[in-house]
Amino acid sequence: MKFILIFIINFYINGIYAFVPPPRAEVTANLVNNRIYFNGGWNGSSSSDFFYLDVSVPFTTNNVASMPWTDLSSIPGLIIRSGHTACINGTNIIYIGGFMNETDPKFTSVFDVTIQKWSMPVTSGNLIPIERHYIHCVSSRNGIYVYGGGDDVLSMIRLDVSNLIWTTFSGSLAPLVPVGYSATLLNDTSILYIGGGTNLRLGANFSYHSLEQLPLYNINYNTWSSVATSGSIPLPRIDHGAVFIPQYNQILIFYGSNDTSILTLDTLKFVWSVASISNIGGSPTSLFSFASILVGAYILIGFGRSNDSTNLVTNNFFLLDVSQKDNYKWVTTYDPTKQLQSVQPNPTTSTSSLPSNSSSNIAAIIGGIFGGLAGLIVLITIAVLIVKRYGHSYHPDLVTLQEKSSNQPIT
Ligand SMILES: *[C@@H]1O[C@H](CO)[C@@H](O)[C@H](O)[C@H]1NC(C)=O
Ligand SMILES: *[C@@H]1O[C@H](CO)[C@@H](O)[C@H](O)[C@H]1NC(C)=O
Ligand SMILES: *[C@@H]1O[C@H](CO)[C@@H](O)[C@H](O)[C@H]1NC(C)=O
Ligand SMILES: *[C@@H]1O[C@H](CO)[C@@H](O)[C@H](O)[C@H]1NC(C)=O
Ligand SMILES: *[C@@H]1O[C@H](CO)[C@@H](O)[C@H](O)[C@H]1NC(C)=O
Ligand SMILES: *[C@@H]1O[C@H](CO)[C@@H](O)[C@H](O)[C@H]1NC(C)=O
Ligand SMILES: *[C@@H]1O[C@H](CO)[C@@H](O)[C@H](O)[C@H]1NC(C)=O
Repeated sequence: MKFILIFIINFYINGIYAFVPPPRAEVTANLVNNRIYFNGGWNGSSSSDFFYLDVSVPFTTNNVASMPWTDLSSIPGLIIRSGHTACINGTNIIYIGGFMNETDPKFTSVFDVTIQKWSMPVTSGNLIPIERHYIHCVSSRNGIYVYGGGDDVLSMIRLDVSNLIWTTFSGSLAPLVPVGYSATLLNDTSILYIGGGTNLRLGANFSYHSLEQLPLYNINYNTWSSVATSGSIPLPRIDHGAVFIPQYNQILIFYGSNDTSILTLDTLKFVWSVASISNIGGSPTSLFSFASILVGAYILIGFGRSNDSTNLVTNNFFLLDVSQKDNYKWVTTYDPTKQLQSVQPNPTTSTSSLPSNSSSNIAAIIGGIFGGLAGLIVLITIAVLIVKRYGHSYHPDLVTLQEKSSNQPIT
């Protein structure tokens, strides 16, 4: 009986999230309503899964199996994609492009997180039907913009999210970095592009120009310009991560190929600096084509590819605590109540993509703790009943059933 109780308590604490996402690179990550939705990617072939990480509860990144994952792959309508991109429109995540089933490509698909359903919108417009991969979209008040996506694909496309019209803009003066760049909407007007290169990701021609001059795209006039940067100008790179912290007017760039350093760019003065990180941490190997996202007071980095041939794709996760500007720190524990230090409690600012305010996070944690305790008590009671009823003939099916029913997300 003691053994069964220990087993159950152990299982409950360590194994309550039965789904563990396998390694992959080229995966999308989008934060909506305290959940980071991950889709697809590449692991030697395309991954056909879809799942989320619950960021309303604490977790540690030491053990990927202990993180609060929920698999959504069984919801019908999932399109297999890798090297694609995804942008948020309200409570919809719009998935765009990437490598797909060539006989039946679906350039645009939509997941509604409120009703948890996929849809395949019928779009119109002058979208040239070509594959676009290793792309990064940007959501703006004018719609969703996607640049490039192939060796000679130097056009900008825009999806009008209300009328579902794709528009292709001419590629004149477009930067010659059509794949593996990062894209950041700086203000309501300009999209800043960092890094990228041609399709030849690890070849001799992987990057075309230095990060000294960065391409800017004006969404009012659909025109390109470039901005000169200064400071510690990074080496060219592709398939890196770029995370914008609007409160700090700062973009952090992480890893990538060929250079792997972590730098910050001041988005007002366009000065590069080596990121101020007070401890050693992050990825112990080179890393590219990974996911990176701002969540609360942290930057979460996960999945990706390394140049180490024994470890092609990973499902490792790293957390950078960015709660204090330019005093960053690698940590392994995520605390959903922690806030960016300089955030003013102003609901009309651009913080809407961050998890909701701390009071609802605290409520979620309290809910989580009470839900957890209640579940534990229920399980112990069941265990006692099982032991009473079956004596020593332990019945695993019944226990499994109860564990499953108490695994429902706590909301
Ligand atoms: C890649 O992911 C798919 C599931 O999406 C899986 O079936 C396959 O075994 C994985 N391949 C490798 C090499 O891990
Ligand atoms: C690709 O699409 C075709 C047509 O819908 C389908 O028959 C085929 O099974 C798909 N292939 C994969 C790998 O899903
Ligand atoms: C985007 O959001 C608007 C406003 O909620 C909605 O009308 C529109 O249908 C959405 N479009 C897509 C493609 O999700
Ligand atoms: C947006 O930022 C860009 C780059 O700093 C700048 O050139 C542009 O004037 C800004 N636009 C507005 C409306 O602030
Ligand atoms: C790299 O670019 C140069 C100049 O465009 C070209 O001559 C060379 O063949 C390219 N190398 C590869 C590996 O594609
Ligand atoms: C790759 O990085 C190394 C140093 O990290 C640098 O010397 C080399 O020039 C880079 N290659 C290219 C093509 O930029
Ligand atoms: C992989 O990347 C690391 C660090 O970025 C570098 O030191 C090492 O030489 C690379 N290994 C290979 C096989 O390219």
